[in-house]
Amino acid sequence: MAIEDKIKELLQKRAEARQGGGEARIESQHAKGKLTARERLDLLLDDGSFEEFDMFVSHRCIDFGLESEAYLSDGVVTGYGTIDGRLVYVFSQDFTVFGGSLSEMYASKICKIMDMAMKAGAPVIGLNDSGGARIQEGVKSLGGYAEIFERNILASGVIPQLSGIFGPCAGGAVYSPAITDFIMMTKDTSYMFVTGPKVVKSVTNEDVTSEELGGARVHSAKSGVSHFICENDEEQIMLLRKLLSYLPQNNMEEPPRVETNDPIDRLEDALNEIIPESPNKPYDVKDVIHAITDNGEFLEVQRTYAPNIVVGFARFNGQSVGIIANQPSYLAGVLDINSSRKGARFVRFCDAFNIPIVTLVDVPGFLPGTAQEYGGIIIHGAKLLFAYGEATVPKITVVLRKAYGGAYDVMGSKHLRGDLNYAWPNAEIAVMGPRGAIEVLYGRELSKKDQEARASFIAMMEEEYRKKFATPYVAAKYGYIDDVIEPRNTRFRIIRALQSLATKRDSLPMKKHGNIPL
Ligand code: HXC
Repeated sequence: MAIEDKIKELLQKRAEARQGGGEARIESQHAKGKLTARERLDLLLDDGSFEEFDMFVSHRCIDFGLESEAYLSDGVVTGYGTIDGRLVYVFSQDFTVFGGSLSEMYASKICKIMDMAMKAGAPVIGLNDSGGARIQEGVKSLGGYAEIFERNILASGVIPQLSGIFGPCAGGAVYSPAITDFIMMTKDTSYMFVTGPKVVKSVTNEDVTSEELGGARVHSAKSGVSHFICENDEEQIMLLRKLLSYLPQNNMEEPPRVETNDPIDRLEDALNEIIPESPNKPYDVKDVIHAITDNGEFLEVQRTYAPNIVVGFARFNGQSVGIIANQPSYLAGVLDINSSRKGARFVRFCDAFNIPIVTLVDVPGFLPGTAQEYGGIIIHGAKLLFAYGEATVPKITVVLRKAYGGAYDVMGSKHLRGDLNYAWPNAEIAVMGPRGAIEVLYGRELSKKDQEARASFIAMMEEEYRKKFATPYVAAKYGYIDDVIEPRNTRFRIIRALQSLATKRDSLPMKKHGNIPL
């Protein structure tokens, strides 16, 4: 065969691979409002940067008639490319080939790019759209999944791993995304579950739709499995690009710095007025966040899950940081099981990837009650405590208002190696709120008084307690608070703090790994 013919053959094979499962299945994908695996990669990566591997791979299965049905690429498109000029490794599952189901060879393609990403120290982004294990391949498919899981585990904390869910993600397919750092889902067209509605019906007799069982809304608001919810494929892909811009390439590097024209010494006078006079009145902590970050930008993570704690990425003077803030406008910002888990996971991610942590505190304590105790708030609250205490990245904490009880300790306190701890002048840092304190301290006296006398006694003692303890100055007297700052200066003080901590080095004692209370 002449070289021209060989090249023609090559081009034909490439064209065949690009067709995936064929025109009809591509049309059906589009009819569902979904992009194809390759269209997603085209949008995700910088123009012309994609280098594809293993286009000519196909499966080796000879059961259930598969010996006569094979597709080049075998249902997953893999390779590397760049996002804003930065190297990333990618795989994109092709639902048009056997429903994107995972075969032995498909798994080996994913493993190959994961191994390469680890050697290069570059993130892996997986675009998921799959019916799970390829049924015809049996245990080879299960083995393939576990090969991927092991690589996800070894890569955890070394390179960022992002998962986009664009369609079904069922059975074994869920656990690789679950091990990665962030999951995002598209509304109405994506769903994740360990077992689908039919199995649920046969085992528990529940009638449930795919959407109710594992749709994007459920995993964003109820289970917390998904960190972001998107309107459609295009929006999700843009969000993957944006999220990556806050992250370093690997755990040995810093996140990229971004030029900003937002002055570092911008004063926000409105912050001096933002805390209501009454300590029981809420305000939106996101107003504080938007007021202090570069250009007011904040990429919130898990927005609809446990909204009593707010977590996400922002920049100060172009430097990427993770923000963790109690949200007084939801359950008074109390710490409970879900918010503790949410906060802990985010703190650990930031710590693993050299992203400084800025904590904004306004927390009345841990949520009391049987529901919380039976659910194990002791263990879950300890996760947040553990995560903060273990983190060695720069940690800057600002107490905006309340920091009561154990929640004071947990939320980035000095005692958990907080580097710079500030408080606003109206901060209340004490063992508990005035009302609770009075009832504990004067219980016996109160029980002897009639209702009127009781109320006036409580009011008097509360006033005294508030004056004495509900201030930042007791903590400041002991050096637990480094400075009491004017609210409008907060941006400037945080940026200064970050600058001073740029060369911070801290470490943990040598160990295999700690035993975070899981
Ligand atoms: C092989 C599969 C497949 C699979 C779908 N297909 N899932 N082929 N193995 N797991 C094929 C279909 O035969 C069909 O082929 C094409 O993909 C599209 O599937 P449809 O059913 O027509 O599409 P749709 O109606 O959109 O439904 C999608 C779906 C459904 C919800 C994903 O296909 C489904 O329920 N699939 C099975 C899901 C599942 O139970 N997976 C195994 C989980 S167990 P044609 O030729 O008609 O286009 C598991 C264990 C691993 O994963 C554990 C590891 C730890």
